Amino acid sequence: MLIFNNQRELTAYLASVSQNKATVGFVPTMGALHQGHLSLLQESVARNPITVISIFVNPTQFNNPDDLAKYPRTLEADIAKIKTVSDAIIVYAPSVDDIYKGHPFSEHFDFDGLEHQMEGQFRPGHFDGVGTIVKRLFEIVKPNFAYFGEKDFQQLQIVRKMTEKEKLPVTIIGCPIFREPNGLAMSSRNERLTEAERAEAAIIYKTMTEAKKRFATQSAVAVTQWVKKVFAKHPKFTLEYFQIADEAALLPCIRKNKTKKYRAFIAVFVNNVRLIDTISLN
Ligand code: PAF
Repeated sequence: MLIFNNQRELTAYLASVSQNKATVGFVPTMGALHQGHLSLLQESVARNPITVISIFVNPTQFNNPDDLAKYPRTLEADIAKIKTVSDAIIVYAPSVDDIYKGHPFSEHFDFDGLEHQMEGQFRPGHFDGVGTIVKRLFEIVKPNFAYFGEKDFQQLQIVRKMTEKEKLPVTIIGCPIFREPNGLAMSSRNERLTEAERAEAAIIYKTMTEAKKRFATQSAVAVTQWVKKVFAKHPKFTLEYFQIADEAALLPCIRKNKTKKYRAFIAVFVNNVRLIDTISLN
């Protein structure tokens, strides 16, 4: 398996192998890989002769220094997991310096307002960091297709918007959420939960599926109030937000409009670990 830590060597290698016009599929990650990431790799490997995965904990997208410090870094285990998908996957695991050349700062983006909703409200600067790193990685890897999980649905829409606005020659593919048997959305942050917390965190998906049922007959406001009550009864969980929004503009649903597709979005703290989830409502 080829592992590059240096963008010069990676780009030279990719230029040498992609001459025969083979498409390049790309899976950007921050490591601590789980089944969800592996499903993105499987999708890319099935459709592209060349697949690249990046493993890079991007400092500019963390608004909370403690979250950055505690983010799991498990490169060896990640490589073993990648090998279970294919030995031919190319790994790019750069240092902060290889990416930022001594200047780990974000570019400022205008994502037509997508960046001001939900995660954008609670994680100032987060999407400028995501935009900066994704654009830089696209420039380095030059993929034809890039695969992102739908768990971070707002991120997926923002990456699509950036690609369109900056006219980047890459097609963004959104892939379904992978869940634990109890419904908890797979996330690298789940590694920071105890067994008991993981089991109890099933309440997040359970509440989301019940919210979906209720949204068929109730207003977004009524469903939101119900979700707030559910979490108020569980002192171990702190609800940061629950929002029903349309998929395209991510604006809160005030009055249901039959022509729009809606989604519920949630962020919950479990003992300082921040978990997010989303579910399509119609
Ligand atoms: O979703 C993630 O893991 C990160 O936000 C990404 C897209 C790899 C950028 O650092």
